Amino acid sequence: MLSTSASQSRSIVASILLLAPTLSTAFYLPGAAPTNYKKSDVVPLYVNALTPADVEGNQQVHSVYAFDYYTESFHFCAPKDGPQWVSESLGSILFGDRIQTSPYELKMGVNETCKPVCDHHTFEAGDAAFVNQKIGQGYRINWLIDGLPAGQLLMDRQTGSIFESVGFPLGREDGNGKVILHNHYDIMVDFHEASAGTFRVVGIEVQPSSRGTSKYQGEGKADCGSLDKPLYLNDKGKTDVTYTYGVYWRSSKTSFATRWDRYLHVYDPRIHWFSLINSAVIVVFLVGMVSTILVRTLRKDFARYNRLDIAMENLNDTSAAEDGVQEDSGWKLVHGDVFRPPKNALILSVLVGNGAQLFMMTGFTIGMSLPMVNARVRRN
Ligand SMILES: *[C@@H]1O[C@H](CO)[C@@H](O)[C@H](O)[C@H]1NC(C)=O
Repeated sequence: MLSTSASQSRSIVASILLLAPTLSTAFYLPGAAPTNYKKSDVVPLYVNALTPADVEGNQQVHSVYAFDYYTESFHFCAPKDGPQWVSESLGSILFGDRIQTSPYELKMGVNETCKPVCDHHTFEAGDAAFVNQKIGQGYRINWLIDGLPAGQLLMDRQTGSIFESVGFPLGREDGNGKVILHNHYDIMVDFHEASAGTFRVVGIEVQPSSRGTSKYQGEGKADCGSLDKPLYLNDKGKTDVTYTYGVYWRSSKTSFATRWDRYLHVYDPRIHWFSLINSAVIVVFLVGMVSTILVRTLRKDFARYNRLDIAMENLNDTSAAEDGVQEDSGWKLVHGDVFRPPKNALILSVLVGNGAQLFMMTGFTIGMSLPMVNARVRRN
């Protein structure tokens, strides 16, 4: 009987050990494990909501609302069988990401100079006015390729360092106070050859441009127009728009582990001496306060214990005991309190046990993070 139960438990342990590798491969943190592609493998491009950003040289916030990528008025091309929602991580959900599939076809290592995203769109006057307004407010397009946001290389005017922004503008001003729509995207994807024939995406840069003369030619072909005729959306009539793109794969020495480094950029690298000193002063003050309290209570107690010791030495002298000096007094009483059950233990079990506290803390945390999401939207 004993031996069978022992062998049973051994087989259970063995099966758990056998399961362990499958469990460890099933558990995957998005963005942490690299995705390997072979040459010509399809690399999906996902689209996120359009977010407002400050217009260059103008610190004022124009809008805080993030639009779904497939908002009708933008007339962006959707996949043939409709866009699908892409499941997101918790962090993504908290940041308000709305990730969907797109019709862009990127094949690892295969360059394309000019491809239509879909056939042409016709902007009515109302939609044109809406999009022109959004361009003026500095709205940015947010794409994700292999979990990496598509951005533009920018230079920090203060420090002269190069960094990558998140997202790229929907359109821009042409210099004469009129806005133009970006309808051609040159997508530069940096890849790293991890081992022979295995490639990883390590960088994405999008150079959007406006091309008023681009035409859809049917059967997946297009004329990508030229850069010197930008595309103005007519807010009094109809405008035909063809969205086109090019894909360029560039070999890179950046490894997968460091691919996020380009996005980490501190705008103001000055050390904030005032807040540093402020924190130090508060720490010193609190330490001082706590130690004063400790010293004041403990000194009295120590004096009493010392008196007790002296009294024990001359056993005949019982005056100390008559004074009410006991071995357990003062701060030593704490040890008796540690294991004393609380008076209304049941109330506590209701609060903690049914998750009310957990629920309230979750609500509080989400409430606190909302202003931060807002702040992030503003920064972008
Ligand atoms: C693709 O384009 C990039 C950038 O222009 C270039 O460096 C690379 O050699 C091209 N690849 C092929 C296979 O033509």
